[in-house]
This record gives sequence, structure tokens and C-alpha cells, in this order.
Amino acid sequence: MLGFGRNDQGQACLSGTPLVELLAAARTGTPAYVYDLDAIADTTKRLVTAMGDPLHVVAYAVKANSAGSIVRAVAGAGAGADVVSGAELEVARACGVPPERIVMSGVGKTDPELDLAIRSRILAIQAESVEELERLAVRARAASTRARVTLRINPSVMADTHAHVATGHDDAKFGIALADLGAAWERIDRSPEQLEAVGVSTHVGSNLTSPEPYRKSASAVCSVARARAAQGKPLSYVNFGGGFGIDYGTRPVATPEEFVRAALGLLREEGLRDLKLVVEPGRVVVGPHGVLVARVVQSKRSGSRQWIMIDAGMNDLLRPALYQAHHRVEPLERAPGGDTWRVVGPICESADDFGSHPLGAEPPEAVVIRDAGAYGFAMASQYNGRALPSEVFVASGQVSAVSQSAGAVNWIRSRLSA
Ligand code: LLP
Repeated sequence: MLGFGRNDQGQACLSGTPLVELLAAARTGTPAYVYDLDAIADTTKRLVTAMGDPLHVVAYAVKANSAGSIVRAVAGAGAGADVVSGAELEVARACGVPPERIVMSGVGKTDPELDLAIRSRILAIQAESVEELERLAVRARAASTRARVTLRINPSVMADTHAHVATGHDDAKFGIALADLGAAWERIDRSPEQLEAVGVSTHVGSNLTSPEPYRKSASAVCSVARARAAQGKPLSYVNFGGGFGIDYGTRPVATPEEFVRAALGLLREEGLRDLKLVVEPGRVVVGPHGVLVARVVQSKRSGSRQWIMIDAGMNDLLRPALYQAHHRVEPLERAPGGDTWRVVGPICESADDFGSHPLGAEPPEAVVIRDAGAYGFAMASQYNGRALPSEVFVASGQVSAVSQSAGAVNWIRSRLSA
């Protein structure tokens, strides 16, 4: 079976190989992220297959995890890329993602980033304001070329997710308000030599559990596409964004196929079958297929509580501290169950807390933190003078690449030269 599981001895495995063996083969210590490239490619293929038409694009949101091994695996499985910076665009290109399958979002793209996107002839630069269109026209003129743009709309939909990752409501900084669309099209039409409107896009929020809010914001996109076609200026694609959620062990979530089916069904209902569809999933592609392995460095009983301190902290996996996110923490070498321990990291912040988990009568030597493949390493920092975690990439049961953390020494050097 692909992905995370346990063997008959109860050891935590990725696609059937015990994590302890993978870490030994990688000759790396903890904390370490370990990723299952086969499971990542498999999820990507499921998404690509569900989309059906080869002209549709599954644009993997590189921000979820930008490791080269992962971006190459999703590109190899047929995905394009959604990037939000010049650096992410460079990574996607270097990993073999064809430019005509890359879209770029972002509310604050710099001039060099716009120039790079224009030069790279990507599928679309997703403009988030009329003011950005103005800058795009200037940059395209300077490059004597035309920029392919979409309007990223703010659909005015409140998604049922954590406030920090709801992006399509009226008070969000993202996208162009529906009321400003007239001005946006007008700005594009004023510079036909510089701006080519190819589509309309949105992203309503992240970690959605059901396709409902997704459909709602997608139907706002469809209305905009229909209105533009009615002006005699049909678009070539619609982009409904990412946000497909995963089950962190707390509640059931629609499958990736269900999200894609909802999107395709809407296109049919809206009579927009001729348009290309783009979706931008990140979390669902990598989240379940990466774990963070940590060693227990200390346990303590204090009053009525029992704690274990692990060698991974909020600097390695920020999600619990930032979003009160739940990640299952389990013993590495035996099945979870029994006494509950509060699991915390070494950082000097009370938010450095992974919650209470059933780990057994005695603390395990090491734990595995599940569903950490997305927005884990991507948001890691060196806070408290800590090294970045290592990363281990596994394909066909073999360690295919290892990124050893440079260690705290680099941090010391950089601080001393500051
Ligand atoms: N497209 C756009 C324009 C986005 O802003 C995002 C995510 C995605 C696609 C991908 O969304 P996904 O399919 O991964 O949900 N750090 C947070 C998540 C932030 C998401 C930001 N934007 C977390 O750890 O939950």
C-alpha cells in the first residue's frame, strides 16, 4: 500500500518500508521530514486522470512543498505549477514544468518577478488588482511583448476553514473585487498590444472539507467568464484555485476526485465546456505523504500531567502554533494507544505544543508526526538558533535523495556576520 501505514510489527512505514530503515539508509538524524514520492506521484495522477481532458491543467501549488524531488515527481506525473514568486517559478522551470502549464499568483509581485513571468511565456500571470494590470502593461511594453493575464477575482465567499487561510471574502487582501471587474477589463482592453486576457481565476481558501464553497466561488468565476464572452471577448480558461482539504485524523474530507468532479460538473452546467479548466491543489498532493520524525529528548511528570519533549519544534512544523492545527503524533516503532502524553518542542514559546496523544505507558524513543508533507518544511525557520530539519525522499522503497540540514553552525556564522 502506498503512503503512510504500519507493518505487522507495528512499525510506522512509508509504502511498506519502516521509517527507521529509511532514516538509517539516509544516514540522517532527527528531526527529519520523510516523503513518499510514489504516493505523491500517485495522487497527482489521480487528479490528472479525474480532470480527463489533457488540455486541463492540475497546477501544483509549489508553495506547499518546493523540494526539487517533489516538484520533479509531480511534473513527471503530468502536473503544471502554481507559483507565487520568481524563485518558485525558477524551481518549477528547472524541474521540467513546461511554461504553458505554469500560472503565477500573488498580491505583491515585484517588477523583476513580473519581468521573469513575462519572459518565461507562462500560461498566465494572475493579476490581483487594476493597479497591477497597469504595471504589467508597462513591463510588457518595455519587453516589447504581450503578457498573458487572468483576472484573479475575489468571489466574496467565506469558506469554512481557519480564518488565516480563508482568502475569498470581502475583507481578504486577495483578488479583484467583483465591483471593480469593469475597470479591470477596461484596463486590459486599453492595451491590446501589451495585455492579452486569457482567463479568470480565484482561490477561495485552503483545507476545505467539502466542495461546496469551492463550487460557490467557482460559479462566480463562471459568471465572469460568461459576461466577458457576451461582450464578444471569450476567454480560453477558468481557474478555480486550490484548497482541496485532507483528513488530519479529525474529520472526513471529500476526495480529490470529488473536488475535481464538482468543478467539471459546474463547467457543464454553466455551458462552459469549451473552456480549459485549471485547478491549483497543493496540500492534497503532498500533505498525507510526508511525515516528520522526531526523537524524544526528555519526559517529565509535573503535577497531574505528563509531558514529552521532542527534538522537533514549531520552527520545524509551524502549523499547530499558527493555526491550532492538529497533527497526529504516534510512536515510531509501535502502534499508538494507551496513556496520553502532551507532546511539546524545545522552543521557548508556549505555542510550541503538538497537543496530547496516546503514546503508551512509557514514552517512546521516537515519534512520527503525520500529514506533515504540506506547509511543513516550507514554513520552517531557524528560530532559537536551530538547524533546519533534514529531508529524505523515498521512491520504490529506496532513499532517492537526502537534503541534510546545514546545521546550527550556519546559523551561528550568519548571525555573527550580521
Ligand atoms: N492557489 C493559491 C492562489 C493559493 O494561495 C493557495 C494556498 C493554493 C492555490 C493552494 O492551496 P491548497 O490546495 O494547498 O490548500 N500554510 C497554510 C496554508 C496556506 C495556503 C496558502 N495558499 C497551512 O499550513 O494550512
